[in-house]
Formats: sequence, C-alpha cells, structure tokens
Amino acid sequence: MRLILFGPPGCGKGTQAELLCREFGIAHLSTGNMLRDAVSAGTEIGLRAQEIMEAGALVPDDAVVGIISDRFDQKDCGKGFVLDGFPRTVAQAESLDELLVEKRFELDRVIEIKVADELLIERISGRFSCSECGAGYHDRFRLPKRANTCDTCGGTGFTRRKDDNEMTVRQRLNSYHTQTEPLLPYYNNRGLLAPVDGMAKIEDVTAEIQEILSVR
Ligand code: AP5
Repeated sequence: MRLILFGPPGCGKGTQAELLCREFGIAHLSTGNMLRDAVSAGTEIGLRAQEIMEAGALVPDDAVVGIISDRFDQKDCGKGFVLDGFPRTVAQAESLDELLVEKRFELDRVIEIKVADELLIERISGRFSCSECGAGYHDRFRLPKRANTCDTCGGTGFTRRKDDNEMTVRQRLNSYHTQTEPLLPYYNNRGLLAPVDGMAKIEDVTAEIQEILSVR
C-alpha cells in the first residue's frame, strides 16, 4: 500500500497516517516530522529549514526531495508507506514521480482530506503530542484515555509545536492554497485522487479512507 495524504494544515493527515500505518504495518513518511527532527539535531537541512518553518512558508524543494529520497532507501518502505505532507509543490510531485520510477514503487491512491479553513485554526491551536513517541492529541477532540498519559507508549510528557499559533497557521494556509492546492488536478487527471470529508469524526474519516482503499 502506497498512499499520499493530501490536505491543508490541521486537516488530519498526521492523525490518519498514524492510524493507517498501524493497521497496515507500513511506514509513516511525514516531511514535517523529518524536518522538525533535523531542526532539533541541528543538521545542515535543519538550520536551513528552521526560520522558514517558523514563518509558515515552504522549505526549498531540493531539501525535502533529498530527505524523501534517502528515506525511501530504508528497509521499512519496502512494505509500503503513507506520505504525509509531501509533495507540496508541482516540482516536488514531478521529483516524486522520478523517484517512484527509480525505486520501482507505484502509488495506489492520493487521499484529499477536505476541511474548511475556519475549522483548521481551532484544530491546530488545540493540538499537542507525546514527547516520547510523537502520538498526536487534541484538547477537545482527542484527549488521552488516561489523563496526562500517552495511549500509545505510556509517556507522561507532552509538547506543542512552535508553528501552531494563529498568525503562522494563516501563513501555512496561504502556502497551501497558493502552492499545494494546484497539485490536485495533477493527481485527479491520473485517476488517483479520492476526496474524503475531514470534518467528520476521526474514526469516521478513517472508515471512509478504508472504504476507498478496499475497492482498489
Ligand atoms: P507539517 O508538519 O506537514 O504540517 P502541516 O501540513 O501544516 O500539517 P499539520 O501537521 O499541521 O496537520 P495535520 O494535517 O497532520 O493534522 P493533525 O493530524 O495533526 O509541516 C510543517 C512545516 O514544515 C510546513 O509549514 C513547512 O514549512 C515544512 N514542510 C513540511 N513538508 C514540506 C514539504 N513537502 N515541502 C516544503 N516544506 C515542508 O490534526 C490536527 C489536530 O486536529 C490534532 O490535534 C488532531 O487530534 C485533531 N484532529 C484530526 N482529525 C480530526 C477530526 N476529524 N476531528 C476533530 N479533530 C481532529
């Protein structure tokens, strides 16, 4: 199974990727997470990316394509993967096509998670994640089952992202509408695109994605 999860910031790409990867035993490839790791580790790419991410703009294509290319070479991608947050520009989509041919991978589906802009600010401002394993939560929509304890790893520390403030979210939404949304026809013309209602409950969105995947 090889999927792209596509949609604006806060639409639920990470949430759904986590659930699908657990179900199918495939790799979760989030360029956002990889870039944040690079920033924490202080690598060359991290140093290049930090300010750009904090401003809500897109990191240069060559940096993210390089990260994905290296990640495809790791063994766990052989079983399949979910791309979360990549590609985000037409140039990235073209590079992805070349990489897929080179690595002999074929895409099964591009799932577009549709959510109205006004809901996204609330989603993002309530988001937090486990500091140990990265599992995602929300103050209103997805609290851990036991207070202050991660459902996945039992960790008790949680963090919030630096770019999850209203001003940066508005800029991220702007980047999405101007640079990423134009990719939709690219995949629609190839019969790969399937929209889902991202404003439904988390479990209902998962069920709609599973339904789409079951007919292919
Ligand atoms: P990235 O980390 O990819 O952020 P994003 O695309 O802005 O997406 P988010 O992670 O904010 O949201 P999500 O869709 O995963 O939503 P989530 O599941 O967490 O990118 C960050 C930055 O890195 C970019 O701005 C850019 O600078 C850079 N970058 C990354 N990739 C790049 C690329 N390819 N090219 C260039 N630059 C790149 O859900 C949000 C919240 O809502 C959670 O709390 C969740 O619990 C809750 N929630 C989820 N689904 C539902 C639901 N159905 N109902 C109610 N609540 C829900």
